[in-house]
Amino acid sequence: MNAIAALTTPAVSVDIEGVNLSYGDNHVLKNVDLSIQPGEFFAFLGPSGCGKTTLLRLIAGFNQADTGRVLIGGKDISGLPPWKRDVGMVFQSYALWPHMTVARNVAFGLEERGVGRAEVDRRVAVALDLVGLGHLAGRRPSQLSGGQQQRVAVARTVAVEPKVLLLDEPLSNLDAKMRVQVRRELRDLQQRLGLTTIFVTHDQEEANTICDRIAVMNDGVVQQVGTPMELYERPANLFVANFLGTANILDGRIVGTGGERHFAIEGGIRLPLAADAVVPAGAKLVFRPQHAALTDATENAGGGLALPCVVAHREFLGASVRYGVRVGTTEVAVDTPFLSGHDLYEVGAEATVTLSPHALIWLSV
Ligand SMILES: Nc1ncnc2c1ncn2[C@@H]1O[C@H](COP(=O)(O)OP(=O)(O)OP(=O)(O)O)[C@@H](O)[C@H]1O
Ligand SMILES: [Mg+2]
Repeated sequence: MNAIAALTTPAVSVDIEGVNLSYGDNHVLKNVDLSIQPGEFFAFLGPSGCGKTTLLRLIAGFNQADTGRVLIGGKDISGLPPWKRDVGMVFQSYALWPHMTVARNVAFGLEERGVGRAEVDRRVAVALDLVGLGHLAGRRPSQLSGGQQQRVAVARTVAVEPKVLLLDEPLSNLDAKMRVQVRRELRDLQQRLGLTTIFVTHDQEEANTICDRIAVMNDGVVQQVGTPMELYERPANLFVANFLGTANILDGRIVGTGGERHFAIEGGIRLPLAADAVVPAGAKLVFRPQHAALTDATENAGGGLALPCVVAHREFLGASVRYGVRVGTTEVAVDTPFLSGHDLYEVGAEATVTLSPHALIWLSV
């Protein structure tokens, strides 16, 4: 039988509504509301301790919320124990049985559920095939690489045919090269199964490369939900702007009115604002390093969005050069493509930072 058809169940939505959870007086999840679409590959992304694992365990049924509820496929499952939730969780440690073969590890959860012998054998074969480990069914975990162990953990979880797959930092035990390979495999597998999947990570590159949408979390609060591109281009606040990629932040205040407005930065530096620019009160100016260019101090290359600066650092990155330049007392990063034969700016040189008008982001929180 076709391996995919054999393990595919119709995709379901996951909804988290008004969830609060405290450990003692530590309020860990604060008014969390999320709607995850059927078949979506969704990430919880945020720094260590922000509540990602706590939220994942809540969906799996290992934690209870103080308020709010969790719905799978539109059905409130808050009162159900983990084994009745149709949810499969892959733990960071993989938790494989060292004394059992790969095949026995995958079979274990099925036997626990009372699945018959022939069906267990069939599903084990299908699940191992799916992760490309059919030929290693007789090995023990200690005889596998980290990436192969990770695939056994995934095979074991999908073999029980969960409706939702939960992955808690599943790549963190792997070296950098392996992480890139395994994350592609995971994405590919998720696409073939069409399984609603939630992936926890604190690594923005991981979330960006494999997930459809991301919920950025900080201190138990969902800061923003969106596609990787939306979060990068239109961050809702300074935390999101900083967490996804490098963000330059310039403090200043608006002076003047109408078409005569300027953004005044310390040191007497003034940036003219377009008449239609919408700038919230108290906003800071945010821009990405690649949305700025460096030109000679004498060349104020038109457009007006030019700031005098002094080169403070220079890093050669191969395809590009990253400059750290001081605008007043604030240091900002500017990425320029590296073109062979072109002169680079030296540390200490005076130059001009020119900003792309369409790439300016104004954030007040
Ligand atoms: N069983 C527990 N009892 C008490 N406090 C806990 C428990 N589990 C987690 N916490 C606390 O809840 C907060 C969130 O923890 P959680 O494990 O959800 O973070 P995380 O975002 O997964 O972090 P990491 O990226 O480090 O895994 C932390 O302050 C943590 O110390
Ligand atoms: Mg965690």
